[in-house]
Amino acid sequence: RRVLSVTSECVPLIKTGGLADVCGALPWALERHGWEMRVLLPAYPGVAKALGKTEEVWKSADLFGEPATVRIGRTGHMTVLLLDAPHLFARDGGPYLDTLGQDYPDNPERFAALSWVAMEIARDGLRDGWRPELVHAHDWQGALAPLYLRQQGVAVPSLLTIHNIAFQGLTQPDRLAGLKIDGEGFDDGPLEFYGKVSALKAGLLSADRVSTVSPRYAAELSLPEFGMGLDGVISTLDQPVVGILNGIDLEVWDPETDAAVTPYSAARPASRAKNRKALQERFGLEAGSGPLAAVVSRMTTQKGLDLLAEVLPGYVAAGGCLAVLGSGDKAIEKTFRDAAERWPAQVGMAHGYDEPLSHLMYAGADAILVPSRFEPCGLTQLYGLRYGAVPLVAPTGGLADTVIAANPAALGAGVATGIMMSRVDAGGLYDALMQLITLYAAPTTFKQIQKNGMKADFGWERSAGAYATLYSDIISEATE
Ligand code: ADP
Ligand code: GLC
Repeated sequence: RRVLSVTSECVPLIKTGGLADVCGALPWALERHGWEMRVLLPAYPGVAKALGKTEEVWKSADLFGEPATVRIGRTGHMTVLLLDAPHLFARDGGPYLDTLGQDYPDNPERFAALSWVAMEIARDGLRDGWRPELVHAHDWQGALAPLYLRQQGVAVPSLLTIHNIAFQGLTQPDRLAGLKIDGEGFDDGPLEFYGKVSALKAGLLSADRVSTVSPRYAAELSLPEFGMGLDGVISTLDQPVVGILNGIDLEVWDPETDAAVTPYSAARPASRAKNRKALQERFGLEAGSGPLAAVVSRMTTQKGLDLLAEVLPGYVAAGGCLAVLGSGDKAIEKTFRDAAERWPAQVGMAHGYDEPLSHLMYAGADAILVPSRFEPCGLTQLYGLRYGAVPLVAPTGGLADTVIAANPAALGAGVATGIMMSRVDAGGLYDALMQLITLYAAPTTFKQIQKNGMKADFGWERSAGAYATLYSDIISEATE
């Protein structure tokens, strides 16, 4: 059974966040359930080279204005279809932002083209005869694929997975023709969102089914606080949004074999201390008796890091240390740089994106802080759990679904795996940080929490089974 996964990023080829981890790990998990997966990804600079030998399987003389090809190749366990369209993807900068950090003005067209090619592959198949029975589109970048399938009358069903409803792919209606969208009846049609064109809304209403990356976020999406204006649309879908929790790649994220860290495990935790020391040195922090907490994150208001900046003085005064890795919002970056200057022995900030350093942070920190305002799933708390960095999280989305809060009942039963804020505001975060300080000062309890997390199973196996069932259901419903 054949599935085409359509995504704008995918580990190990290109990553800006959790979407890439998921799109890179899910295919192999599903292959083990007997699904033949191929991942359609834009050929950003460097990606083709990382893939090695490839072969052309599709071409077009005119994809949104210029010629383009699709080349097939393999990396690890994954079969990748690279969309080589230099006029759209061969650019300096990242997948979405130019070197100055601005959105490319033609982002709507760039990812519309990706979605269009998915539709053509579903319609005509590839040169090697491969044709998907299902198209699995991810986020707004893939969300026009379900719409194109419907508008072009292609009888291949689709699944749209929402990884983050905050990004919707909005654009002006005067660009509809350039996006190859039939805009007939636009004003009250599935595309229209407050006068703009919404790729995500079109996908929501065109896909056979919609899923998201945790059960809690699936429930939250129909609430105005979380739906970002699409809660009404979500509530009217014929079939409710399915929440399937993300897994993590247990081969890549294994403290026993991770090349970026000194190896250790739940059974042999002693050498974890070496990673803590290395982390301290890397950030120039001095060892006190308090916990060393870490943040590995995009710096956006989603992630609640402005709340952390607000309560940092109290945490530092109580003896806590903090190491931050990330980039994004300039104002948030600056608050952490300023804090590192103000408390150099206790706060450190590494600006940028650094995969090996992120591994050291999970392996060396006592806690990983994720005070997000909303979090569809969240992976950093899962990496923290696996690596023994106790997650301190907001009670929302996948964070709430994956962490067992150290409340009196869970502590009494010996099952706690982390600390949960009582509410998502500065007070809630402050209280949680004080709980971290207290728990850290009780080593037996703290080690038990660490160990519980390290032993918890967050591999892909269970969730891959859920996707496999969903895929089968969609395909059989479509052929009924
Ligand atoms: P999101 O996708 O919303 O950014 P997730 O928690 O799902 O959040 O995934 C974030 C992923 O990006 C994790 O794999 C995390 O380790 C990684 N990451 C985030 N910021 C950085 C950074 N500055 N350097 C290295 N890895 C990072
Ligand atoms: C998004 C979400 C994050 C999720 C990731 C992978 O980026 O913000 O919570 O873990 O997608 O699904």
